[in-house]
Amino acid sequence: MTRAPVAGRGAAEVSRAARDAAEAFRVGVERAGAVRAGAGPGEVVRVAVDMPPRCLRRGGGASARRSHLRYARRRTPGESTDATRGIGAVQWTMRFVVLTGAGISAESGVPTFRDAGGLWEGHRVEDVATPEAFERDPDTVQRFYDLRRHAVAQAEPNPAHDALARLERALGDDLLVVTQNIDDLHERAGSKRVVHMHGDLLTALCANCGARTPVTAELVERPPCPVCGRRMLRPDVVWFGEMPYELDAIDEALLACDVFAAIGTSGAVYPAAGFVMTAAEQGARTVELNLAASEITPLFDEVRHGPASFEVPAWVDEVVAARG
Ligand code: APR
Repeated sequence: MTRAPVAGRGAAEVSRAARDAAEAFRVGVERAGAVRAGAGPGEVVRVAVDMPPRCLRRGGGASARRSHLRYARRRTPGESTDATRGIGAVQWTMRFVVLTGAGISAESGVPTFRDAGGLWEGHRVEDVATPEAFERDPDTVQRFYDLRRHAVAQAEPNPAHDALARLERALGDDLLVVTQNIDDLHERAGSKRVVHMHGDLLTALCANCGARTPVTAELVERPPCPVCGRRMLRPDVVWFGEMPYELDAIDEALLACDVFAAIGTSGAVYPAAGFVMTAAEQGARTVELNLAASEITPLFDEVRHGPASFEVPAWVDEVVAARG
């Protein structure tokens, strides 16, 4: 895939984008004829919308086809809710897109990006995660990702990864996991339908021929590319200023999904932070599962705050039970 520069992702731009996104979402809901009855913590928002026809691919009676009530609810901390309220009654097939971020791997011992004062393993992002940094000091950048690869090899999937693999076994092709993570913990937990939009620590990208091949030696040692033979391999990681992978396929999945969940992501980096709006605007129910409020929490229908190893299995249990 070709990589092209994307717009800057500075903090000010991000919060402006989040505000714009919130407004776009509000307007979208109003256009859909939504009836808001309350939106504060613990209040129930009853939103009457036309049910998307694709929800009815398997079952769903005439009354269900006419319309249904979606319950958009802000939880109070510690309170449990039913993410799939109303779903079981009509026995739909639901399509799910789950976006994961560093928070899902935190309890496996893989550090997040923004929980340590903006430093990633003691490095400023611009020193290890930009094409300019690589040009300036390739050895430091190669060594940094070589070390990350070793650290991830020592980590194990946690109950949140396991739960998403279980969700895939239940939903099959109706689930797509889109991860911003470059670790392989989803795959090691058993997930197969995973898109690594920010690349993959276990593959190398050849700066000469563009081949993406498995890493078999430390990249700092400049091994040859197995395809073209040139010693121009770099980490297959999408750096700031580069285009994420598979955006078309992700967009297609977002436009077709009935439920969008974001797990363990701060909502600070676009385009991933905007996925909730794409999904919501076309009528999907949205849920955030995160340790604490993120930059985009207000955009979700439902919010569940707590450690991923607890919240994700509980949510998956509800979905699987509702599906029957
Ligand atoms: N359970 C759930 N969420 C958690 C946990 C946990 N145990 N621990 C931390 N979190 C949450 C944090 O509260 C935070 O909101 O996970 C989020 C991690 O946010 P970031 O560190 O910003 O990671 P992410 O959103 O994945 O970053 C996006 O930024 O630097 C780039 O390319 C990099 O893919 C990365 C992107």
